Amino acid sequence: MFKLLNLLLLMCLYSYSGTTTILVSGIKGGNVTLSCGSEDREMVYIDLSRFKSILSCHNEECESENGRVFKEGSCDVVIKDLRFSDAGKYIMRVYYSNTQTELEPQTLEYQLCIHDEISVKKGEDLEMDVLWTSADKVVHWARRSTGQKEDWSRGHGVRRDRMTIRDNNLIINNFTATDAGTYEVLDSEGEILIMMTVTESRTGPVDELNYINDKTTTYFPPST
Ligand SMILES: *[C@@H]1O[C@H](CO)[C@@H](O)[C@H](O)[C@H]1NC(C)=O
Repeated sequence: MFKLLNLLLLMCLYSYSGTTTILVSGIKGGNVTLSCGSEDREMVYIDLSRFKSILSCHNEECESENGRVFKEGSCDVVIKDLRFSDAGKYIMRVYYSNTQTELEPQTLEYQLCIHDEISVKKGEDLEMDVLWTSADKVVHWARRSTGQKEDWSRGHGVRRDRMTIRDNNLIINNFTATDAGTYEVLDSEGEILIMMTVTESRTGPVDELNYINDKTTTYFPPST
């Protein structure tokens, strides 16, 4: 216990300066690995935090605040069954023992982006549970000619018609072909948290025909 307290103190004294952000992305429902990239060194203590600590491991013993987060190998952390609410910034602190038996800390910062694809029928409501704590803006990329449009922002709320908010959900009522495209949820620094590709589902033969006749339903993903 005394050792652990010392480690915690060291962590407090260690500043974040000089860290670079590692961009990682995963698919909703899938797994992602936050890799520390130092497999061959002896790791003593590891702490992963997001707003607060969510996983801490002392040698092989781990305590997790979230059953979906666990350590794999020497210091890789896996988050399984990804949800939109997992998107955002993570900070990992890893302590290695060096030859003088002193601890050598390393801080890694990750930005996790979650992708998803959804197909919606014309006239249905599209619900996207994307408005989590870090969400600052939602932009919509539709046709090339119209470019990017801001649909929602924390400061201004909903910025278009047929769109409502309920809890963490952004809802588009009475879906039409013009609502298809890519929706990006950005944090206050402009980093992408969630990228959702929405297509109009075409099932019946009548819909199929309409689609072929409608030359405007060609969508382009954002160039970035
Ligand atoms: C995610 O990880 C868990 C636990 O290791 C595994 O059982 C599951 O098959 C993985 N899922 C995918 C989609 O790879």
